[in-house]
Amino acid sequence: MEPIRVLFVCLGNICRSPMAEAVFRHLVVEAGLADRIQADSAGTGDWHLGSAPHPSTQEQLRLNGVVVGDQQARQVRRDDAELFDYVVAMDSANLGDLRRSFGMDQHAQLSLLLDHADADLVDVPDPYYAGGYDRVYELVDDGCRGLLVLICRREGIDVPAA
Ligand code: 4NP
Repeated sequence: MEPIRVLFVCLGNICRSPMAEAVFRHLVVEAGLADRIQADSAGTGDWHLGSAPHPSTQEQLRLNGVVVGDQQARQVRRDDAELFDYVVAMDSANLGDLRRSFGMDQHAQLSLLLDHADADLVDVPDPYYAGGYDRVYELVDDGCRGLLVLICRREGIDVPAA
């Protein structure tokens, strides 16, 4: 069976989307779904190609017992729209950029991460200049939990216990 592929997207692919990738993968492994669901991340910008996640992103992941892994920043590609089933943007600007580069008829379902969260926010704030990585972690965790439930419901997989 083909795995379900999920791509998380932010601007630089060093702060928010690699955090979401790691948190989501952690939840997938915890739910025993590692052979069914795969995660990746990418940035709309190209400033940090090949870089590891930001030290503050790594710190938050470690503090929360999530494996950082060997992620290296990459830029979104047009064919990601066909390779991935779900493409999940961290903020509205990322989503607008994705829609422009993917065109109209992509295979992937596009959404904002916080569409799947209880939080009363639309965008995961960009912590690169403003900081607040701990709050970003809470939002990312909330969104990833909701996203996993949504994917399981849509794909006919038993929903993991909360
Ligand atoms: P991210 O944060 O999109 O969450 O990875 C940023 C990282 C780098 C830059 C902007 C945002 N930058 O301008 O280099």
